[in-house]
Amino acid sequence: EWTAFVRENLLRWYDKNKRELPWRKNKDPYRIWVSEIMLQQTRVDTVIPYYERFMESFPDITALAKAKEEQVLKAWEGLGYYSRVRNLHQAVKEVAATYEAKVPTDPKAVASLRGIGDYTAGAILSIAFDQPVPAVDGNVMRVFSRWFALWDDIVKLSTRRKMGVLGTHLVPSDRPGDFNQALMELGALICTPVNPACGKCPVQATCQAYEQGVQAELPVKKKA
Ligand code: ADE
Repeated sequence: EWTAFVRENLLRWYDKNKRELPWRKNKDPYRIWVSEIMLQQTRVDTVIPYYERFMESFPDITALAKAKEEQVLKAWEGLGYYSRVRNLHQAVKEVAATYEAKVPTDPKAVASLRGIGDYTAGAILSIAFDQPVPAVDGNVMRVFSRWFALWDDIVKLSTRRKMGVLGTHLVPSDRPGDFNQALMELGALICTPVNPACGKCPVQATCQAYEQGVQAELPVKKKA
């Protein structure tokens, strides 16, 4: 049926078109975690060299937990939004102390770590642990708002919740992490904010905004 069709199309497209990114080399939950924190407010191209250097300096949870805050801040210098790295450092110390330096697999435990919200928890759990949970970031909200022609303001919490429900229904139990990353990749490469490449979209045939010719008007993003 419909869900099976879109999952297959999206995953086939992802397998062919995904970018080789350093955090896609393996499923180490710590590496996924750091990448997702860096990517929260920073573009992929900017993140890559920082990520590589950070991983050389702090290759695992134990190394980061032991590091001095000033060393960690130094490694983050230039990425900005320093509360991200302070929270990450705190959370990693907590994982070292409480969970024998292993990222917990329990969703409640993951979500209660500092700096980890619904999106980051979903990304870690699906990509690193193959749990069928959604990971809806700004890219994915844009994809959903077009795909389903949703005119809700994406700044609103109620809209984010609605998108989370959609993600929950869509994410497959087979390859959930790849599926979530396929949605992000679609948002980054095809379903872009300006001039989306609808002609190359693997799910164009099911896109409500494309059918109605309103893709340029979505998503709705009101100033806060
Ligand atoms: N943006 C946020 N997470 C990402 C990921 N895992 N791959 C690519 N872009 C992302």
